[in-house]
Amino acid sequence: MRTAIIYNHKGGCSKTVTAINFADNLAGRGYQVLVVDMDPQGNASSFFRRYNINKTSVRELLTGEVRPSRCRYRTNYKGIDIIPSSLGLRAVTSDALVAGRDTLKEGLWDISDKYDYCIIDCPPSVDFLTEVIMATADDVVIPLKPDRFSSDGLWTVMDLVYNFGPEDVAVRGLFTQFYRNKDTFASIRNITETSGVPVYDNVIRRCSAVDHSILVRRPLAKCASKSTAAQDYRDFTEEYLEWVKEVKEDGIA
Ligand SMILES: Nc1ncnc2c1ncn2[C@@H]1O[C@H](COP(=O)(O)OP(=O)(O)O)[C@@H](O)[C@H]1O
Ligand SMILES: [Mg+2]
Repeated sequence: MRTAIIYNHKGGCSKTVTAINFADNLAGRGYQVLVVDMDPQGNASSFFRRYNINKTSVRELLTGEVRPSRCRYRTNYKGIDIIPSSLGLRAVTSDALVAGRDTLKEGLWDISDKYDYCIIDCPPSVDFLTEVIMATADDVVIPLKPDRFSSDGLWTVMDLVYNFGPEDVAVRGLFTQFYRNKDTFASIRNITETSGVPVYDNVIRRCSAVDHSILVRRPLAKCASKSTAAQDYRDFTEEYLEWVKEVKEDGIA
């Protein structure tokens, strides 16, 4: 199982939209995909209709109350299972983690032979849970809204990745909510030149179908397959898979 975490400590930069559509595109290519929702807000869990306060969630996995097979659920989509989040995740303290920073990594180990990819949707925060998530990462995808706020503080994300991610973790930014105008191009140039963070060639355009997809709770490929965002997420997924193939063949990230 290869784990890609979708992280930026800023809210509203398309983490959840990216996690959902990335997972759906991977499943569409025939891969078995596990989505782990680490955001107590549970947007990805609600999207897949698996947010349920009466059922076990990732919280119980972190506190060692259940094995992962007892808190993962099938979704309505072939090839996608989910470990949902719950509001209770907010109340988990670092003392409650069964294996410290390696808790999630060790927790997922049990079921890692059942999936090709694990996509982790992250909360917009910087705390011990972020460190726990970082420890699981093979790849970090950083959704970046091309505005000034995204470049401010990008170093915080990189710090976290390099301090708490595995040594060979591969990091790349993905521009989202892209809108073709002068300011956007200036922001992109600013972010890539000043941060030195590599970015995917494909960008995700701003597109009204995204709101529709959230409203009807269906991935873009299932409800607006001809939209620009659906096409962009398909191209991004292809680029990611191509790149993973190269990494596996050459051993370079
Ligand atoms: N490509 C896009 N085009 C238009 N709107 C988008 C796009 N991506 C995200 N959004 C909007 O931004 C909001 C926040 O996206 P979300 O994925 O929930 O961000 P995050 O998880 O980073 O907080 C969504 O509710 C949606 O309205
Ligand atoms: Mg989110």
